[in-house]
Amino acid sequence: MAKKGMNLCNVCCLLLYVATAVLAGRDFYKILGVSKTASIRDIKKAYRKLALQLHPDRNQDDPKAQDKFADLGAAYEVLSDEEKRKQYDMYGEDGLKEGHHSSHNDIFSSFFGDFGFMFGGNRQQQDKNIPRGNDIILDLEVTLEEVYSGNFVEVVRNKPVAKEAPGKRKCNCRQEMKTTQLGPGRFQMTQETVCDECPNVKLVNEERTLEVEIEQGVRDEMEYPFIGEGEPHIDGEPGDLRFRIKVLKHPVFERRGDDLFTNVTISLVEALVGFEMDIVHLDGHKVHIVRDKITKPGARMWKKGEGLPNFDNINIRGSLIITFDVEFPQTQLDDQQKDGEEEPALLCVTSTDTQQGCVVDAEPLCLFLQVSGAS
Ligand SMILES: *[C@@H]1O[C@H](CO)[C@@H](O)[C@H](O)[C@H]1NC(C)=O
Repeated sequence: MAKKGMNLCNVCCLLLYVATAVLAGRDFYKILGVSKTASIRDIKKAYRKLALQLHPDRNQDDPKAQDKFADLGAAYEVLSDEEKRKQYDMYGEDGLKEGHHSSHNDIFSSFFGDFGFMFGGNRQQQDKNIPRGNDIILDLEVTLEEVYSGNFVEVVRNKPVAKEAPGKRKCNCRQEMKTTQLGPGRFQMTQETVCDECPNVKLVNEERTLEVEIEQGVRDEMEYPFIGEGEPHIDGEPGDLRFRIKVLKHPVFERRGDDLFTNVTISLVEALVGFEMDIVHLDGHKVHIVRDKITKPGARMWKKGEGLPNFDNINIRGSLIITFDVEFPQTQLDDQQKDGEEEPALLCVTSTDTQQGCVVDAEPLCLFLQVSGAS
C-alpha cells in the first residue's frame, strides 16, 4: 500500500513536471539553437551569430522581426547567467524571479558596439559634416590554443559617455554670411559665427564589458570593430573601437597559414627501429604517430586535417607537419666500441629511453654503428 502511494506520488510529480514544462513559455534553448548542455561559449557564439541574422534592421519585411529579436535577447540574458539558467532549467520561464531585465540593446552592444547596427560598418556614407571622435585600435593578444578552439574574451572598457546635464551650451557652430543694408544702395556682408543651443552634456565614465569573439582560425592583424566605442565627440558621434588580433608565439607549434609545424626529437634507436608516440595537440587531444621505417634527421611527417581550422570555413583544416630531429650520442666512442666489440655497452649509452633492455634492441643499432665506424 505504501508502495502504491509512492508510485502515485511519482506520477503526480511527473505530471506536474510535464505541465510546468508545457506552460513554461519560451524554449530558450531552441531559440538559440543550442543543446541543454551547451557551454557558455556555445551560447555566446550562437547569440552573436543569430543577433546579426535576426536584427530588425536587417529584416524590415518581417513583421515578426521585433519579436524574434526580443526572444533572442531574453534567451541570451537567461542562459548566459548561471543562476537564471538554473532557475529556468528547473521551473521554466515562469520560474524566473522577476527582476531587473537588462535591455537587449545593452546585450547587443556588448557584442557589436554602441551604435546598434550599421551594416558592414558603412559609416563613410554618413554625413561628413557630423564631427566624429577618433577611432581607437587596441591590440588583443590571443594564444594559438584560442585560434584553434575559438574563445570569447571579455574586455572591460571604461569610457566617457556623454550624458545630459543642466543648462544649455552652444553647439553646431558654423560661419554664415550676414547682409546688412547700410543705406540706400549700400550693403555690407559680414561673416559671423552662428550657433545653436543644445542641451548641455557632460562626459561621465561608464564601465562596459565587451565580448570579443576569437573566431576559430582567426588570422594575425584581423580586426574586430565595435561601432561607436571609440573616443567620444561632444558635438558629434564617437569613433569606433577596433580590436586587432595579435597571435602569440607558441612554444611547441608554429603557425604558417592554416598549417601547424612542430619539431620532435627522437633517439637514435627510434630513428632506426621505428617508434610510436602521441603528440598532445592544442586542445589536448592526442595525435598518434607510428613509424616502422628508418627516420632520417629532418624527415617530415604530414598529418592532414590536424592543422588549424580555416577562418572562412572551419570544416577545412590545415595539416600538422612534424619535423624529426635525431639525438645522437654525446659520448665519444672508444676504439673497442668502434670495432663493434662492446655492443651492448654501446647501446646502453645511447638508448636511455628504451625500457626494453639493452640486448634486445642491440643488433640494429650496433650494425648501424659498425657501418658508420668503418666509413
Ligand atoms: C623547429 O626547428 C627549426 C630548426 O631548428 C626551427 O627553425 C623552428 O622554429 C622549430 N619549430 C618549432 C615549432 O619549434
